[in-house]
Amino acid sequence: MKIVILSASPNSSATKSIIAAGEKRKHEMTVLDPAYLYLLISDAVNGYDRVYDGYNKTYKPERIKLTDIDAVISRIGSNLQYGCSALHHLKYNLGIFTTQSPHGLLNAADKLISLQKISAAKIRVPKTVMANDPVHLNWMLEQIGGLPAIAKMLQGSQGIGVIPLYSENQTIATLQSFYKQKVNLLLQQMIDTGTNAKDIRAIVIDSKVVVAMERTSENKNDVRANLSLGGSGKKIQLSKEDEEICIKAANACSLTCAGVDIMKDKDGKTFVIEVNGNYGYKVEEITKTDISTPLIEYCEKGVKEDKKATENNKSYSNQILLDMANSLLM
Ligand SMILES: Nc1ncnc2c1ncn2[C@@H]1O[C@H](COP(=O)(O)OP(=O)(O)O)[C@@H](O)[C@H]1O
Ligand SMILES: [Mg+2]
Repeated sequence: MKIVILSASPNSSATKSIIAAGEKRKHEMTVLDPAYLYLLISDAVNGYDRVYDGYNKTYKPERIKLTDIDAVISRIGSNLQYGCSALHHLKYNLGIFTTQSPHGLLNAADKLISLQKISAAKIRVPKTVMANDPVHLNWMLEQIGGLPAIAKMLQGSQGIGVIPLYSENQTIATLQSFYKQKVNLLLQQMIDTGTNAKDIRAIVIDSKVVVAMERTSENKNDVRANLSLGGSGKKIQLSKEDEEICIKAANACSLTCAGVDIMKDKDGKTFVIEVNGNYGYKVEEITKTDISTPLIEYCEKGVKEDKKATENNKSYSNQILLDMANSLLM
């Protein structure tokens, strides 16, 4: 098969790992940076939409034909909006199998929308309150059970944008400063794990948990366990119930492949913290688990299923034609 990785980083550990896994299974692997794709929407009603690669600025953009791509693996981090438009074009306008949906990636990139979707799917998230014009800050704090609490930027990542709040003055000053700058924050109950900051990252691929890792902050005074901030990780086995929670949370955001962050409080209750579309690859190194081969297998399965569905549709329309012909003969 011909598999395209949609990524701005051809040399990242993620891209390299996916290429190696694909080549091992004899697939032709290519990396395309979505930033250089030209998306053509035609005026024809029967499918003449096109995509062109304009990476080389000296030559005219080169058409990418349907025969050039069987499946697309999205690794879109920066430039998310345009990356998702390109992914949309490949998935819906050209009908190519993709491992993630563009709306799934956009849902996951917004911590408020994703929490709303996860909670609507009846999965526990930390108590969270959000306001457009937060005049009643003390009331907001009461709703989430008081201090200590967490303030969170909707689009933060790698722990940046997560602010622990311990005093009333600090809370009011923080929230007022951000709101004044027109940066919306959500206010969230701080989950007490009973130890150093600790959370769990589960890698979900094709709606299955492939591996889970517990992350612990090395810094006693930091509430964030992100590896990018110096946290350490170790492989763990999730219970069936927690696996189910992670899969449902990813699916609630319209993703079948995601990195799902969960936390367990000191009573063992599970909370979904967030869903990541562009999950990191350090988990491979830490857990010694290959998370790319399952992604390639998902492509193989998805392409096969899409082909079968198209054939069924074809035979269905052939059946309709046959029925029509028969009715004319009668
Ligand atoms: N409600 C919370 N209670 C306690 N710790 C939290 C809470 N939310 C986040 N954290 C800690 O902060 C880290 C980063 O938060 P997260 O929402 O995953 O944002 P990011 O996208 O920056 O990773 C989490 O991995 C966890 O360690
Ligand atoms: Mg996180």
